[in-house]
Amino acid sequence: MAQYPDLAGKVAVITGAGRRQGLGEAMAKRLAAEGCTVVITDLGQGQGEHLPDSAIGTTDEMQGIVHDIEQAGGKAAAFVCNVLNPDEVASAARFAVDTFGRLDIWVNNAGVGYLMKPILEMSVEEWDTVLNVNLRGAFLGTKYAAEQMVKLGNGGKIINIGSQASKSAFAHASAYTTSKHGMTGLTRVAAQELGPHGINVNQICPNHVTTGLGAWQNAHFSEVTGKGYETYMADMRARIPLGRPGLQEDIAKVCAFLCSEQAAYISGEAMNVSGGEEYH
Ligand SMILES: NC(=O)c1ccc[n+]([C@@H]2O[C@H](COP(=O)([O-])OP(=O)(O)OC[C@H]3O[C@@H](n4cnc5c(N)ncnc54)[C@H](O)[C@@H]3O)[C@@H](O)[C@H]2O)c1
Repeated sequence: MAQYPDLAGKVAVITGAGRRQGLGEAMAKRLAAEGCTVVITDLGQGQGEHLPDSAIGTTDEMQGIVHDIEQAGGKAAAFVCNVLNPDEVASAARFAVDTFGRLDIWVNNAGVGYLMKPILEMSVEEWDTVLNVNLRGAFLGTKYAAEQMVKLGNGGKIINIGSQASKSAFAHASAYTTSKHGMTGLTRVAAQELGPHGINVNQICPNHVTTGLGAWQNAHFSEVTGKGYETYMADMRARIPLGRPGLQEDIAKVCAFLCSEQAAYISGEAMNVSGGEEYH
């Protein structure tokens, strides 16, 4: 049910939103339910050599999410965009404007959280992949989205999907943690530079969502720590004051709020959505 009437008619682009059960899908569906037209972007088939095949948002999945949104009465389109490629990111921003006449919301969601290794075992190429997708990709998204938003003169909202790793350090996650800490810096600088254009820039910092990437991480770390899945998850629940890991919808709700006029005076924020686990 729509909660933010000012979002009706807005146009949103979300990167890395083509994977079923990912945070991107949930945010896309939530923004569409609020009346936004949503452009689902992702790698599509055959471009994600650095990822396990099962971790790539394929064109079929992207079209499936568009179909779901249309079936629910919303408006959406799919656009293949590798956030490593500046031309493709710029094209995605132009596509929204050329096709729907506006660009109000850009969500830097594409991320790689699969290359989790100790520093001594991590290759330079793996480090570069994580930094390039998670941080350089968010820079490109911010740059080309802002370019269109400034040109259109209607202001806008840029949302970066960070992590608890934007605030805290996690062993085996040097590149991921560094990229997400860097995203906090990017968020703050972009908020300073783009505020005068009426563009709010904020970061959402989820802790653990047990689907998609989060499911892989839970399985991986339960093995690495030798705890086994059940004990690992029980320990996680015990650490979280609200007693459960996050749901995709928890992130989608905050995304809709930050994109709405209810959050008009919030910018440069890195907002924890962690059930109380993270608090700085
Ligand atoms: N799931 C969690 O527990 C969790 C927690 C904190 C933060 N996050 C962050 O949320 C975001 C989404 O994660 P998710 O859990 O939905 O994972 P996911 O793996 O389902 O989604 C990531 C998406 O990014 C896409 N992607 C990867 N490389 C790309 C590239 N070069 N260009 C374009 N798209 C690319 C993938 O195809 C995939 O669709 C990520 O930035 C992740 O770091 C997730």
